[in-house]
Amino acid sequence: MALGEQVSMEVIEIKGFGNADVLAPATRETPVPEAGEVLIEVAAAGVNRADCLQRMGKYPPPPGVSDIPGLEVAGTVAAIGKDVLEIKEGDAVMALVAGGGYASHCVAAEECVLPIPAGLSMTEAAAVPETFFTVWSTVFNRAYLDESETLLVHGGSSGIGTAAIQLAKAFGARVFVTAGSHEKCAYCRELGADAAINYKSADFVKEVAGLTDGKGVDVILDMVAGDYVPRNIASLGENGRIVMIAFMGGTSAQINLVPFLLKRISLTGAGLRARSNAFKGAIAEDLKAFVWPMFEQGKIKSIIDSTFPLAEAGEAHKRMESSAHMGKIVLTV
Ligand SMILES: NC(=O)c1ccc[n+]([C@@H]2O[C@H](COP(=O)([O-])OP(=O)(O)OC[C@H]3O[C@@H](n4cnc5c(N)ncnc54)[C@H](OP(=O)(O)O)[C@@H]3O)[C@@H](O)[C@H]2O)c1
Repeated sequence: MALGEQVSMEVIEIKGFGNADVLAPATRETPVPEAGEVLIEVAAAGVNRADCLQRMGKYPPPPGVSDIPGLEVAGTVAAIGKDVLEIKEGDAVMALVAGGGYASHCVAAEECVLPIPAGLSMTEAAAVPETFFTVWSTVFNRAYLDESETLLVHGGSSGIGTAAIQLAKAFGARVFVTAGSHEKCAYCRELGADAAINYKSADFVKEVAGLTDGKGVDVILDMVAGDYVPRNIASLGENGRIVMIAFMGGTSAQINLVPFLLKRISLTGAGLRARSNAFKGAIAEDLKAFVWPMFEQGKIKSIIDSTFPLAEAGEAHKRMESSAHMGKIVLTV
Protein backbone atom coordinates (compact mmCIF):
# COMPACT_ATOMS: atom_id res chain seq x y z
CA MET A 1 0.00 0.00 0.00
CA ALA A 2 1.45 3.39 -0.93
CA LEU A 3 2.02 5.80 1.97
CA GLY A 4 -0.82 8.23 2.37
CA GLU A 5 -3.26 6.01 0.49
CA GLN A 6 -6.48 6.14 2.51
CA VAL A 7 -8.46 2.94 2.53
CA SER A 8 -10.83 1.78 5.18
CA MET A 9 -10.08 -1.02 7.59
CA GLU A 10 -12.20 -3.40 9.64
CA VAL A 11 -11.95 -2.94 13.40
CA ILE A 12 -13.61 -4.01 16.63
CA GLU A 13 -14.83 -1.06 18.69
CA ILE A 14 -15.86 -0.89 22.35
CA LYS A 15 -19.36 0.58 22.11
CA GLY A 16 -19.72 1.77 25.71
CA PHE A 17 -18.07 -0.11 28.57
CA GLY A 18 -19.68 -3.35 29.68
CA ASN A 19 -19.92 -7.08 29.02
CA ALA A 20 -18.57 -8.85 25.93
CA ASP A 21 -21.58 -7.76 23.85
CA VAL A 22 -20.23 -4.18 23.66
CA LEU A 23 -17.57 -5.35 21.21
CA ALA A 24 -18.84 -4.56 17.72
CA PRO A 25 -17.37 -4.59 14.19
CA ALA A 26 -16.91 -1.16 12.60
CA THR A 27 -15.03 0.50 9.78
CA ARG A 28 -12.34 3.15 10.24
CA GLU A 29 -9.79 4.93 8.13
CA THR A 30 -6.57 2.92 7.84
CA PRO A 31 -3.79 4.67 9.79
CA VAL A 32 -0.69 5.93 8.02
CA PRO A 33 2.57 4.89 9.68
CA GLU A 34 4.60 7.79 11.04
CA ALA A 35 8.39 7.94 11.22
CA GLY A 36 9.72 4.79 12.90
CA GLU A 37 6.42 2.94 12.49
CA VAL A 38 5.15 0.20 10.22
CA LEU A 39 1.62 -0.62 9.08
CA ILE A 40 0.77 -4.31 9.36
CA GLU A 41 -1.99 -6.03 7.43
CA VAL A 42 -3.19 -8.20 10.28
CA ALA A 43 -3.72 -11.93 9.79
CA ALA A 44 -4.31 -12.73 13.46
CA ALA A 45 -4.53 -10.87 16.78
CA GLY A 46 -4.02 -12.29 20.26
CA VAL A 47 -6.66 -11.84 22.97
CA ASN A 48 -5.49 -10.92 26.46
CA ARG A 49 -7.17 -10.59 29.86
CA ALA A 50 -6.19 -6.92 29.75
CA ASP A 51 -8.49 -6.45 26.72
CA CYS A 52 -11.43 -7.59 28.88
CA LEU A 53 -10.50 -5.01 31.52
CA GLN A 54 -10.26 -2.29 28.83
CA ARG A 55 -13.69 -3.32 27.52
CA MET A 56 -15.10 -2.89 31.05
CA GLY A 57 -13.56 0.60 31.34
CA LYS A 58 -11.01 -0.53 33.93
CA TYR A 59 -7.82 -0.33 31.84
CA PRO A 60 -7.73 2.69 29.51
CA PRO A 61 -5.14 2.80 26.72
CA PRO A 62 -2.05 4.92 27.52
CA PRO A 63 -2.21 8.53 26.22
CA GLY A 64 -1.98 8.76 22.44
CA VAL A 65 -2.75 5.07 21.89
CA SER A 66 -5.68 3.80 19.77
CA ASP A 67 -8.93 3.07 21.62
CA ILE A 68 -9.27 -0.13 19.57
CA PRO A 69 -8.41 -3.07 21.85
CA GLY A 70 -5.66 -5.57 21.08
CA LEU A 71 -2.05 -5.79 22.28
CA GLU A 72 -0.45 -8.15 19.76
CA VAL A 73 -0.73 -9.03 16.08
CA ALA A 74 0.85 -11.08 13.33
CA GLY A 75 0.62 -10.28 9.64
CA THR A 76 2.36 -8.79 6.63
CA VAL A 77 3.99 -5.36 6.48
CA ALA A 78 1.81 -3.21 4.20
CA ALA A 79 3.68 0.10 4.48
CA ILE A 80 6.64 1.59 6.32
CA GLY A 81 7.07 5.09 7.73
CA LYS A 82 10.14 7.32 7.36
CA ASP A 83 13.42 6.12 8.86
CA VAL A 84 12.37 2.48 9.11
CA LEU A 85 15.51 0.69 8.01
CA GLU A 86 15.31 -2.98 8.91
CA ILE A 87 11.74 -3.85 7.95
CA LYS A 88 10.32 -3.81 4.46
CA GLU A 89 6.93 -4.13 2.81
CA GLY A 90 5.88 -7.76 2.46
CA ASP A 91 7.78 -8.99 5.55
CA ALA A 92 5.90 -11.53 7.69
CA VAL A 93 6.04 -10.15 11.22
CA MET A 94 4.54 -10.19 14.68
CA ALA A 95 4.29 -7.10 16.88
CA LEU A 96 3.63 -5.98 20.42
CA VAL A 97 1.34 -2.93 20.38
CA ALA A 98 -0.19 -0.83 23.16
CA GLY A 99 -3.58 -0.92 21.40
CA GLY A 100 -5.23 -1.28 18.00
CA GLY A 101 -4.70 -5.01 17.44
CA TYR A 102 -8.36 -5.99 16.89
CA ALA A 103 -8.32 -4.71 13.31
CA SER A 104 -7.47 -5.63 9.75
CA HIS A 105 -4.59 -3.10 9.87
CA CYS A 106 -2.46 -2.02 12.80
CA VAL A 107 0.41 0.41 13.28
CA ALA A 108 3.40 -0.74 15.35
CA ALA A 109 6.66 0.88 16.42
CA GLU A 110 9.61 -0.57 14.55
CA GLU A 111 11.30 -1.62 17.83
CA CYS A 112 8.31 -3.80 18.73
CA VAL A 113 8.10 -5.63 15.39
CA LEU A 114 9.77 -9.03 15.21
CA PRO A 115 10.23 -11.64 12.49
CA ILE A 116 8.12 -14.77 12.81
CA PRO A 117 10.25 -17.75 13.90
CA ALA A 118 10.36 -20.40 11.17
CA GLY A 119 7.60 -22.96 11.57
CA LEU A 120 5.05 -20.72 13.34
CA SER A 121 1.75 -19.93 11.60
CA MET A 122 0.29 -16.41 11.71
CA THR A 123 -2.16 -17.59 14.38
CA GLU A 124 0.63 -19.05 16.50
CA ALA A 125 2.76 -15.93 16.01
CA ALA A 126 -0.05 -13.60 17.10
CA ALA A 127 -0.23 -15.49 20.41
CA VAL A 128 3.42 -14.85 21.30
CA PRO A 129 4.35 -11.17 21.89
CA GLU A 130 2.34 -10.14 24.98
CA THR A 131 3.09 -13.25 27.00
CA PHE A 132 6.74 -13.72 26.03
CA PHE A 133 7.61 -10.01 26.43
CA THR A 134 5.93 -10.09 29.85
CA VAL A 135 7.51 -13.31 31.10
CA TRP A 136 10.97 -12.33 29.85
CA SER A 137 10.85 -8.87 31.44
CA THR A 138 9.48 -10.08 34.78
CA VAL A 139 10.66 -13.62 35.54
CA PHE A 140 14.11 -13.17 34.03
CA ASN A 141 14.91 -9.43 33.97
CA ARG A 142 13.13 -8.35 37.15
CA ALA A 143 13.26 -11.49 39.31
CA TYR A 144 16.45 -12.78 37.59
CA LEU A 145 15.44 -16.45 37.74
CA ASP A 146 18.50 -18.66 37.53
CA GLU A 147 18.69 -22.12 35.99
CA SER A 148 19.44 -23.67 39.40
CA GLU A 149 16.31 -22.13 40.95
CA THR A 150 12.63 -22.95 41.44
CA LEU A 151 9.75 -20.90 40.01
CA LEU A 152 6.12 -20.97 41.17
CA VAL A 153 3.62 -19.68 38.59
CA HIS A 154 0.03 -18.92 39.55
CA GLY A 155 -2.50 -19.29 36.72
CA GLY A 156 -0.29 -21.97 35.14
CA SER A 157 -2.71 -22.71 32.29
CA SER A 158 -3.18 -19.04 31.31
CA GLY A 159 -1.52 -17.47 28.29
CA ILE A 160 1.13 -16.04 30.60
CA GLY A 161 1.40 -19.27 32.59
CA THR A 162 1.95 -21.53 29.58
CA ALA A 163 4.70 -19.21 28.33
CA ALA A 164 6.32 -19.04 31.78
CA ILE A 165 6.35 -22.83 32.25
CA GLN A 166 7.98 -23.41 28.88
CA LEU A 167 10.57 -20.64 29.11
CA ALA A 168 11.64 -21.42 32.66
CA LYS A 169 11.93 -25.14 31.86
CA ALA A 170 13.84 -24.41 28.66
CA PHE A 171 16.40 -22.49 30.73
CA GLY A 172 16.68 -25.35 33.22
CA ALA A 173 14.71 -24.10 36.23
CA ARG A 174 12.32 -26.26 38.30
CA VAL A 175 8.73 -25.09 37.81
CA PHE A 176 5.63 -25.49 39.99
CA VAL A 177 2.24 -24.07 39.05
CA THR A 178 -1.20 -23.56 40.51
CA ALA A 179 -4.31 -23.98 38.35
CA GLY A 180 -8.04 -24.30 38.91
CA SER A 181 -8.83 -27.82 37.70
CA HIS A 182 -7.44 -31.33 37.42
CA GLU A 183 -7.44 -30.97 33.61
CA LYS A 184 -5.51 -27.68 33.73
CA CYS A 185 -2.97 -29.19 36.14
CA ALA A 186 -2.47 -32.21 33.84
CA TYR A 187 -1.93 -29.85 30.88
CA CYS A 188 0.66 -27.80 32.77
CA ARG A 189 2.55 -31.01 33.60
CA GLU A 190 2.44 -31.97 29.91
CA LEU A 191 4.03 -28.60 29.11
CA GLY A 192 6.87 -29.39 31.47
CA ALA A 193 5.79 -28.23 34.93
CA ASP A 194 7.46 -30.39 37.59
CA ALA A 195 4.39 -30.15 39.82
CA ALA A 196 0.91 -28.67 39.38
CA ILE A 197 -1.28 -27.81 42.37
CA ASN A 198 -5.05 -27.63 42.00
CA TYR A 199 -5.64 -24.62 44.25
CA LYS A 200 -9.33 -25.50 44.55
CA SER A 201 -8.60 -28.80 46.31
CA ALA A 202 -5.21 -28.19 47.97
CA ASP A 203 -3.42 -25.43 49.89
CA PHE A 204 -0.52 -24.31 47.69
CA VAL A 205 1.47 -23.10 50.73
CA LYS A 206 1.51 -26.63 52.20
CA GLU A 207 2.16 -28.23 48.82
CA VAL A 208 5.09 -25.92 48.05
CA ALA A 209 6.59 -26.59 51.49
CA GLY A 210 6.36 -30.32 50.78
CA LEU A 211 7.85 -29.99 47.29
CA THR A 212 10.83 -27.94 48.54
CA ASP A 213 11.54 -29.77 51.83
CA GLY A 214 10.32 -26.68 53.66
CA LYS A 215 12.83 -24.38 51.94
CA GLY A 216 10.34 -22.50 49.72
CA VAL A 217 10.71 -21.40 46.09
CA ASP A 218 13.09 -18.79 44.69
CA VAL A 219 10.72 -16.84 42.42
CA ILE A 220 6.93 -16.48 42.23
CA LEU A 221 5.14 -15.05 39.17
CA ASP A 222 1.83 -13.83 40.56
CA MET A 223 -1.23 -12.58 38.70
CA VAL A 224 -3.64 -13.06 41.61
CA ALA A 225 -2.34 -10.85 44.51
CA GLY A 226 -5.01 -10.08 47.18
CA ASP A 227 -4.92 -12.81 49.81
CA TYR A 228 -2.26 -14.67 47.80
CA VAL A 229 0.35 -12.08 48.87
CA PRO A 230 0.86 -13.34 52.47
CA ARG A 231 0.64 -16.93 51.21
CA ASN A 232 3.25 -16.18 48.54
CA ILE A 233 5.54 -14.72 51.21
CA ALA A 234 5.09 -17.93 53.22
CA SER A 235 5.98 -20.01 50.13
CA LEU A 236 9.17 -18.07 49.38
CA GLY A 237 12.63 -19.26 50.34
CA GLU A 238 15.62 -17.20 51.49
CA ASN A 239 16.47 -14.40 49.02
CA GLY A 240 13.22 -15.19 47.18
CA ARG A 241 11.54 -12.75 44.78
CA ILE A 242 7.83 -12.26 44.06
CA VAL A 243 6.90 -10.41 40.88
CA MET A 244 3.27 -9.31 40.57
CA ILE A 245 1.77 -8.70 37.14
CA ALA A 246 -1.96 -8.47 37.92
CA PHE A 247 -4.47 -8.32 40.75
CA MET A 248 -7.19 -10.81 39.81
CA GLY A 249 -7.68 -11.63 43.50
CA GLY A 250 -7.67 -7.99 44.69
CA THR A 251 -5.40 -4.95 44.90
CA SER A 252 -4.80 -4.90 48.66
CA ALA A 253 -3.32 -7.32 51.14
CA GLN A 254 -2.35 -7.45 54.80
CA ILE A 255 1.15 -8.84 55.30
CA ASN A 256 3.62 -9.54 58.09
CA LEU A 257 6.88 -7.72 57.26
CA VAL A 258 9.14 -9.86 59.46
CA PRO A 259 9.96 -12.40 56.68
CA PHE A 260 11.48 -9.53 54.64
CA LEU A 261 14.26 -9.38 57.24
CA LEU A 262 14.47 -13.04 58.16
CA LYS A 263 14.41 -14.38 54.57
CA ARG A 264 15.75 -11.25 52.78
CA ILE A 265 12.94 -11.43 50.25
CA SER A 266 11.71 -8.93 47.62
CA LEU A 267 8.20 -8.08 46.48
CA THR A 268 8.04 -6.27 43.15
CA GLY A 269 5.75 -5.81 40.15
CA ALA A 270 5.70 -4.56 36.59
CA GLY A 271 3.29 -3.48 33.88
CA LEU A 272 4.38 -3.69 30.24
CA ARG A 273 1.82 -1.73 28.23
CA ALA A 274 2.81 1.83 29.12
CA ARG A 275 6.57 1.26 28.97
CA SER A 276 8.61 3.05 26.29
CA ASN A 277 9.31 1.60 22.87
CA ALA A 278 13.00 1.65 23.78
CA PHE A 279 12.31 -0.58 26.79
CA LYS A 280 10.18 -2.94 24.71
CA GLY A 281 12.77 -2.90 21.92
CA ALA A 282 15.45 -4.13 24.33
CA ILE A 283 13.22 -7.06 25.30
CA ALA A 284 12.57 -7.76 21.61
CA GLU A 285 16.33 -8.01 20.99
CA ASP A 286 16.67 -10.55 23.84
CA LEU A 287 13.71 -12.57 22.57
CA LYS A 288 15.11 -12.70 19.04
CA ALA A 289 18.52 -13.79 20.33
CA PHE A 290 17.56 -16.28 23.03
CA VAL A 291 13.94 -17.38 22.55
CA TRP A 292 13.30 -17.40 18.79
CA PRO A 293 15.86 -20.20 18.27
CA MET A 294 13.96 -22.25 20.87
CA PHE A 295 10.77 -21.90 18.81
CA GLU A 296 12.66 -22.89 15.68
CA GLN A 297 14.20 -25.93 17.39
CA GLY A 298 10.78 -27.00 18.71
CA LYS A 299 11.87 -26.60 22.36
CA ILE A 300 8.93 -24.28 23.05
CA LYS A 301 5.66 -23.71 21.22
CA SER A 302 2.85 -21.23 20.92
CA ILE A 303 -0.11 -22.72 22.78
CA ILE A 304 -3.43 -22.02 21.06
CA ASP A 305 -6.64 -22.73 22.94
CA SER A 306 -9.06 -21.52 20.26
CA THR A 307 -9.55 -19.09 17.38
CA PHE A 308 -12.49 -16.81 16.54
CA PRO A 309 -13.09 -14.63 13.48
CA LEU A 310 -12.36 -10.96 14.23
CA ALA A 311 -16.06 -10.09 14.02
CA GLU A 312 -16.71 -12.56 16.89
CA ALA A 313 -14.34 -10.88 19.33
CA GLY A 314 -17.18 -10.81 21.88
CA GLU A 315 -17.37 -14.63 21.83
CA ALA A 316 -13.60 -14.76 22.32
CA HIS A 317 -13.93 -12.53 25.39
CA LYS A 318 -16.71 -14.75 26.76
CA ARG A 319 -14.44 -17.78 26.48
CA MET A 320 -11.61 -15.93 28.21
CA GLU A 321 -13.86 -14.76 31.04
CA SER A 322 -15.22 -18.29 31.51
CA SER A 323 -11.60 -19.25 32.36
CA ALA A 324 -12.27 -22.55 30.56
CA HIS A 325 -9.38 -21.91 28.16
CA MET A 326 -5.83 -23.25 28.37
CA GLY A 327 -3.24 -21.20 26.51
CA LYS A 328 -4.09 -18.40 24.13
CA ILE A 329 -7.24 -17.28 22.35
CA VAL A 330 -6.64 -15.70 18.92
CA LEU A 331 -8.77 -13.66 16.51
CA THR A 332 -8.29 -14.38 12.82
CA VAL A 333 -8.79 -11.69 10.19
N1 LIG B 1 1.71 -6.67 34.14
C1 LIG B 1 1.77 -6.94 32.85
O1 LIG B 1 2.53 -6.34 32.09
C2 LIG B 1 0.89 -8.01 32.27
C3 LIG B 1 1.08 -8.46 30.95
C4 LIG B 1 0.29 -9.49 30.47
C5 LIG B 1 -0.70 -10.04 31.28
N2 LIG B 1 -0.88 -9.54 32.53
C6 LIG B 1 -1.93 -10.11 33.40
O2 LIG B 1 -1.63 -11.46 33.64
C7 LIG B 1 -2.84 -12.18 33.83
C8 LIG B 1 -2.87 -13.36 32.90
O3 LIG B 1 -3.05 -12.89 31.59
P1 LIG B 1 -3.57 -13.85 30.47
O4 LIG B 1 -3.91 -13.00 29.30
O5 LIG B 1 -2.59 -14.95 30.33
O6 LIG B 1 -4.92 -14.35 31.13
P2 LIG B 1 -5.76 -15.68 31.01
O7 LIG B 1 -5.20 -16.58 29.96
O8 LIG B 1 -7.17 -15.31 30.94
O9 LIG B 1 -5.48 -16.38 32.41
C9 LIG B 1 -5.99 -16.03 33.62
C10 LIG B 1 -6.13 -17.33 34.42
O10 LIG B 1 -5.83 -17.08 35.77
C11 LIG B 1 -6.50 -18.04 36.56
N3 LIG B 1 -6.92 -17.43 37.82
C12 LIG B 1 -6.34 -17.66 39.02
N4 LIG B 1 -6.92 -16.93 39.97
C13 LIG B 1 -7.87 -16.20 39.37
C14 LIG B 1 -8.79 -15.24 39.85
N5 LIG B 1 -8.86 -14.89 41.14
N6 LIG B 1 -9.61 -14.66 38.94
C15 LIG B 1 -9.56 -15.00 37.62
N7 LIG B 1 -8.70 -15.92 37.13
C16 LIG B 1 -7.88 -16.51 38.01
C17 LIG B 1 -7.66 -18.57 35.73
O11 LIG B 1 -7.51 -19.98 35.61
P3 LIG B 1 -7.81 -20.91 36.87
O12 LIG B 1 -8.33 -20.08 37.98
O13 LIG B 1 -8.82 -21.92 36.41
O14 LIG B 1 -6.49 -21.53 37.17
C18 LIG B 1 -7.52 -17.90 34.37
O15 LIG B 1 -7.68 -18.77 33.30
C19 LIG B 1 -3.98 -11.21 33.56
O16 LIG B 1 -4.48 -10.73 34.77
C20 LIG B 1 -3.31 -10.12 32.77
O17 LIG B 1 -3.97 -8.89 32.88
C21 LIG B 1 -0.12 -8.55 33.04
